Amino acid sequence: MQIFLDTASLKEIKELADMIDGVTTNPSLVAKEGGTFHELLKEICGIVPGPVSAEVLSLEPEGMVREARELAKIANNVVVKIPMGLPGMHAVKQLSQEGIATNVTLVFSSTQALWAAKSGATFVSPFVGRIDDRAGDGMDVVDEILEVYGNYGYETEVIVASVRHVRHVVESALLGADIATVPYKVARQLFEHPLTTEGIDQFLKDWKGVQA
Ligand code: G3P
Repeated sequence: MQIFLDTASLKEIKELADMIDGVTTNPSLVAKEGGTFHELLKEICGIVPGPVSAEVLSLEPEGMVREARELAKIANNVVVKIPMGLPGMHAVKQLSQEGIATNVTLVFSSTQALWAAKSGATFVSPFVGRIDDRAGDGMDVVDEILEVYGNYGYETEVIVASVRHVRHVVESALLGADIATVPYKVARQLFEHPLTTEGIDQFLKDWKGVQA
């Protein structure tokens, strides 16, 4: 399974650049960083060779397509994030014909994911944490999407997004999701286990005991 980092922070991206397979941003994450969106995107794309998602802000298809063309010019690993909905799917259809990679975002159901695939999306992003927040089961939705895509051989890749904890990543891998995009904190936690830390400490202590 590929791991993307869900952040627009250059500091976080630089620290994990050689480990991660891509980056996803959204307007909230970009706003937190300040600076110019296009310059920040260019810098991220220069650090990470894999796909880097950046979102459009327009709400109608023509505006989305216009913004997407501009974003796609910034680097060849830019993936344009388009919000789910009828206007978004019109834009995705057009962009797919132009060979511009898309990531359909704000997906909360398997029917939305079906439309994304039918429209020619490169990636689809179900937001599991936000589904869980509303007492739903985000991973059930991912399971449904994977089954539907498998039934028809859709090539749209599933990015499990709005990941809140390590368990979301475990379940993504068990279900066979293509990608999990994780916040920095979760990415770091994936490397860690208290018994690893304890084991290293004990080995060093024993080793120093012998040397003394
Ligand atoms: O990739 C989507 C993600 O950034 C949303 O996460 O935690 O705001 O629901 P969250």
